[in-house]
Amino acid sequence: MPIHTSQNFWILETDHTAYALGLDSEGRLVNLYWGERLPRVSDYPKESFPLNWASFSGAGQNAREEFPAETGLKYIEPCFKAVYPDGVRDSVLCFDKAEVTGDSLHIHLLDAIEPLRIVLHYCVHEPYDLIERWAEVTNSGEKVITLERVLSAQWHLPRGRYRLSHVYGRWADEWNLCREPITPGVKVLESRRITTSHIANPWFAVDAGSADEDQGEVWFGALAWSGNWKFIVELTEYSAARLSLGINDWDFAWQLNSGETFRTPPAVCGYTMNGFGESSRRLHDYIRDRVLPKGHSLRKVLYNSWEATHFDVDESSQAALAELAAGMGVELFVMDDGWFHARNDDTAGLGDWWPDEIKFPHGLKPLIERVNKLGMEFGLWVEPEMVNPDSELYRTHPDWVIHFPGRGRTESRNQLILNFARQDVQDDILEKLDHLLADNDIHFMKWDMNRNVSEPGWDTAPGDPRELWVRYVQGVYRVWSTLRERHPQVTWQSCSGGGGRADMGILQLADQVWISDNTEPTSRLNIQEGYTQAYPACSMEAWVTDMGPEYLPLEFRMHVSMCGALGIGGHLVHWDEDKRAQAAYWIARYKEIRPIIQFGDLYRLRSPQKESFSALEYVSKDRSEAVLFAFRTYQPLIPQFESMPPVYPRGLDPEALYTIEGFDDIRSGLAWMRTGVEVYLTNYQSTVLRIRKVEG
Ligand code: GLA
Repeated sequence: MPIHTSQNFWILETDHTAYALGLDSEGRLVNLYWGERLPRVSDYPKESFPLNWASFSGAGQNAREEFPAETGLKYIEPCFKAVYPDGVRDSVLCFDKAEVTGDSLHIHLLDAIEPLRIVLHYCVHEPYDLIERWAEVTNSGEKVITLERVLSAQWHLPRGRYRLSHVYGRWADEWNLCREPITPGVKVLESRRITTSHIANPWFAVDAGSADEDQGEVWFGALAWSGNWKFIVELTEYSAARLSLGINDWDFAWQLNSGETFRTPPAVCGYTMNGFGESSRRLHDYIRDRVLPKGHSLRKVLYNSWEATHFDVDESSQAALAELAAGMGVELFVMDDGWFHARNDDTAGLGDWWPDEIKFPHGLKPLIERVNKLGMEFGLWVEPEMVNPDSELYRTHPDWVIHFPGRGRTESRNQLILNFARQDVQDDILEKLDHLLADNDIHFMKWDMNRNVSEPGWDTAPGDPRELWVRYVQGVYRVWSTLRERHPQVTWQSCSGGGGRADMGILQLADQVWISDNTEPTSRLNIQEGYTQAYPACSMEAWVTDMGPEYLPLEFRMHVSMCGALGIGGHLVHWDEDKRAQAAYWIARYKEIRPIIQFGDLYRLRSPQKESFSALEYVSKDRSEAVLFAFRTYQPLIPQFESMPPVYPRGLDPEALYTIEGFDDIRSGLAWMRTGVEVYLTNYQSTVLRIRKVEG
């Protein structure tokens, strides 16, 4: 039983961690412990130690509240802010009751005066060492309550000095890892773009400054939301570190009518003593088992036409690529942008989701049949939330885009954003995509989103127009999940100009993610390392393309992409026979090892962000097999093998005996892990080594 309750005191235990909360002497719901699981229930502290305060702040300033509301003499970042019908902007949340159902604890809070109920949910994911939190706010009165901030969770760390890890970037350069000290004051990471964004991601890890991949205490978490989000790190004047995560309150307001409930997206949090590597593996397992719709289906090797043919697609160009791809062992052929009505470049067509009459006079069926005859499944690109002003959809419904009446509509990539907060818009796109999937034998869909919002108006909104930010995302979720239900054979990819929409929310709908438009392999090493901080390799689509300097060997390119869900995106017609044969060889090898890569445990052995020599390893869950990749991106000419440290495998059974490809010895797992292997690589060389258990 993961939840222990006594009056006013609750302990949530996972396999290795615990989270304790209770009511303080003034009735506030406060955190009492978050860390390693202790031997006895009586070991957990039952009180938090109040910090001193001067007359300039009240006790609430220092209380470790689980869900602080805006009230009283406190100035910390709250989770909750509302305006009541009489204009009052003060919420005093009082404990009402607690319930336990299965693995979940539900704590009910009531405002002292207003008819407002907040239920805090805690779902304990025992084997993953994770706790999932979300809140529900209900208006039980007659009049409208306006919500101004409703975050999913606030967490408190023991007092001390900490370091924050997060990812940052931009288009084509996402997922850079940053580790920085948490200093007094507030730091905000967020998206205001209506999607998760390339700039930052709702994932964090916090440590005391000395953790590494293998050891050290790490507190970490992520939010399941694909729209505007906000992560706040606050170090108070008394060195109390607080972390808050949820839907962004920037330009947010929500009219909560009588009887209605607002539900936040879930945030998961975890703790480990085994460093950043373990924190990632906890999330990877959880996402594979409990978030991804098909977390345990092998990802197919796909070919994508974008970098080869751009908008210039038709049956013969695609069939030529498909034939070559099939010959190399590709299992799924995806035709990217350019296939639909009047789409010859990026100036027209978005919104008109039927095959272009000139490029595909007989529809998509003849091409799909050719692809199927070659033994491959067929996939297609769409960008459902978008419309070009030059489209039949826009000419018929110019009012369907996000805009302020009477003001300019800023175009980006010649497109505007359909207002997916509106049900009529959702229904129209749903119907078009539904037909497309019903009429054609399609097994894969790439759902793209190529711009961010501007002029965020919604003049026909039934509530506050600022609900747009949230209702838009809910609309995307609705259309996508309905399509999934109706067409279960389809595997989905989330793309937003690369990695602009990758989060635990979208991973409930998308089986895999296009994590960057940058396919240059040395950049990709960093990008992939950043992505895997939170998200599993099976969801990380990685193509081998022609991007980057010609001197980068194909083998290097293949190895980089083999670290995720392998795909090919180069112009195969321009590849000579030898190159295609080499690629075919690596595709065949990938198919042998992909269960280990896609479903195994990832160990990041040497970071590409710090050095020119990097390595990573995937270990099967039963530890009988592993695969080790190593890459060299830069090496000074003399001496030839300068600074090539050994690579130390991880995650092997210490007692069992293993062989490593290329080495003659049979050694114990512990011996390989302690003494390492010497891998000699020069510029742009790479290797993949299989590790096999030979005896129990
Ligand atoms: C975005 C995607 C690319 C490709 C193009 C098509 O940029 O990230 O992979 O699909 O759109 O227009």
